[in-house]
Amino acid sequence: MFVRRIAVVGSGYVGLTTGACLASLGHRVVCADVDEAKVARLCTGEVPILEPGLPELVAQGLAAGRLRFVVGAAAAVGQGPEAAEVMFLCVPTPMGAGGAADLSAVEAVVTEVRTLLPAGCVVVNKSTVPVGTAARTAQLLARPDVAVVSNPEFLREGSAVEDFLNPDRIVVGCDAQDAAERVAALYARLGAPTVLTDAASAELVKYAANCFLAMKLSYVNTIAELCERFGADVLDVTEGIGYDRRIGQAFLQPGPGWGGSCLPKDTHALLQVCAAVGFDFPLLQASLDTNTRQQHRMVEKVRDAVGGSLAGQRVGLLGLTFKAGTDDLRDSPALTVAALLAAEGADLIGYDPGVPAAVPGLTDDLQLTDDPLKVASGAAALVVLTEWPEFRSLDWGRLAELVERRVVVDTRNLLDADVLRRVGFEVRSIGRRPTPALTPS
Ligand code: UDX
Repeated sequence: MFVRRIAVVGSGYVGLTTGACLASLGHRVVCADVDEAKVARLCTGEVPILEPGLPELVAQGLAAGRLRFVVGAAAAVGQGPEAAEVMFLCVPTPMGAGGAADLSAVEAVVTEVRTLLPAGCVVVNKSTVPVGTAARTAQLLARPDVAVVSNPEFLREGSAVEDFLNPDRIVVGCDAQDAAERVAALYARLGAPTVLTDAASAELVKYAANCFLAMKLSYVNTIAELCERFGADVLDVTEGIGYDRRIGQAFLQPGPGWGGSCLPKDTHALLQVCAAVGFDFPLLQASLDTNTRQQHRMVEKVRDAVGGSLAGQRVGLLGLTFKAGTDDLRDSPALTVAALLAAEGADLIGYDPGVPAAVPGLTDDLQLTDDPLKVASGAAALVVLTEWPEFRSLDWGRLAELVERRVVVDTRNLLDADVLRRVGFEVRSIGRRPTPALTPS
């Protein structure tokens, strides 16, 4: 395997994971960020995000001298014989006006480094960008001796390191095949199936994958609603369909709606680019609408659970992050449901194992605590919004003594209803029949 000198620009979830994992594969990596304080922390091995395995990889990379952190893209590219052979762009592409991806960070980096890149260098875009961005980046670079490659990432938060090192596939797109092959070779040790294609196709793979996942989840959330209407059990229905290898068991768990930093952003962005070329994509639009409806449906469930009106009712929320195993609150369906509950006058208190008790500016309508018992105190209903496994082993007997009304709305079908009913809780799940309490509350 060739060891390459690699610059990674942007040290967020994607950049930091990419840099640390490429270093673990033997490459010499310099990661850059504009945030000086973050770089200073990273230089001492302090990882500012919750991502299993990442602190260990960063520590190993630093100790082996294969991983360094610097401020700014220019410093990462370096000069002379030490200059980067490959530069990864891992900067944010947030949702801009009208749902389109905001590419200003990508453009700023390209402008900063365009005259610094050595001849023969390859610029690799890992950020999720609209189809055509590789071509636009090449235009902006105006460096015929530097190839631009699209190499989308498929990392899930909470298992990003595992996903990087055991990928289902590597996708590399470039109109110059030798550059695409050089990028594919960086991952050779992983032995993953590799799709070599043109840049536009690679860019579309990312959107097509995330939008498919979003549609799958909206579909399963709708099936869960149907189960409630027919008195069927969604766990059995999804198990039954999941054994079909064309469908698969993954991504079939109903919930309070899908969220996070990618799925909502990418569905909006694809719809936006479709609209820009006059292309109608009703299936994707319906998936987004279904997601909004799902969040409202969760509010209905809580409203019913507390007896018909949320006004003035104390509601305890278990879980605020968009999924378990992360501290990320971006586009969290839990927060959307919380805002809808607050809008109907509920008095909210929330606990999340990944979120500190004080998050500046989170929301005025939601009091945070680091004690799940406080969430239960005087609550007219408890609502599980994130599937943190530790919620299953809370002291439910103690919680039963503290609540005002023993009812749990479990929007993740996480809890063991038998355990809860024995201590007097009624459990209302998603796509399943409600489980009445065994002992009177
Ligand atoms: C996603 C893609 O999975 C990943 O490939 C891409 O690179 C980035 O976007 P991530 O945002 O980390 O990853 O979250 P993911 O695990 O996909 O979950 C997305 C949302 O779907 C979460 O809100 C999660 O709770 C929800 N979800 C997921 C379900 O409701 N049910 C499921 O069965 C799976």
